[in-house]
Amino acid sequence: MNAVAPLTGEQVRAYARDGYLLLGSEFLAPDVLAEVKGAVPMMLAEDGPRRVLERDGRTVRSVYGVHQTNDVVARVSRLPRLLGAVQQLIGDGVYVHQSKVNVKAPFAGDQWEWHQDYINWLRCDGIDRPDLVNVAVFLDEVNEFNGPLTFIRASHTEGILAGSDNDGMPAGYEEAPSWTATLTATEKYQIRHDVIADLANRGGLVNAKGPAGSVLLFHPNVLHASAPNISPFTRGVLLLVYNTVRNPPRASDPRPDFLAARDLVALAPLP
Ligand code: SIN
Ligand code: MN
Repeated sequence: MNAVAPLTGEQVRAYARDGYLLLGSEFLAPDVLAEVKGAVPMMLAEDGPRRVLERDGRTVRSVYGVHQTNDVVARVSRLPRLLGAVQQLIGDGVYVHQSKVNVKAPFAGDQWEWHQDYINWLRCDGIDRPDLVNVAVFLDEVNEFNGPLTFIRASHTEGILAGSDNDGMPAGYEEAPSWTATLTATEKYQIRHDVIADLANRGGLVNAKGPAGSVLLFHPNVLHASAPNISPFTRGVLLLVYNTVRNPPRASDPRPDFLAARDLVALAPLP
């Protein structure tokens, strides 16, 4: 199957058991990391629908579709070891369904409420199966101060947990396009606190922390959140969501291409 299979059997089992796997920075050469970081200010500067602001209306929260607009990110998505790891988890024939840079700016970077990702890809994009994987590349050191991703171990085994939908647009985004409702600090698909508490008591909470260049893999159904960035340090993370070409989006009213890619061509590893 894969030409390159960088994950050990133990790592594949840990991912299946916990719903996430934090790897070191060996996937990304320092010069590639520097190139991605160097491109971020340009990505943030481009005003347009790909860019989502925080509730303060000023600070950039996320920029979407960066693998479509930026060559360095496109190349990162095809790094043989990264692609190999993804294929070990979801099979071959993979493409990037969605990508984004989440900036989490110093002092102003806001929260991500507790959520699972797959419900968005099911409800908004019509993707039949949760056979996707998130790859988060840390662009800065992620530590306990700058809003690391927090997971509930093994919560991905519970299926879809959301109990209710937040109707309408979140405060501060009333004039924004409807798809913005799933991208802000107010979660659209709400999970009851007692459900979260029960899972946290059983699985425990864990923060994914590590130096810039670390790679974090996580399952679309693992329950996760992240706190606001109270620190003076940026917490930039590049997120690539891989899907397989056998699990295509089927929504009759698709979201923009930068949220749900329509280019379903299996990625070839870089030579
Ligand atoms: C996400 O859940 O998609 C991202 C959360 C984060 O950047 O902290
Ligand atoms: Mn998420």
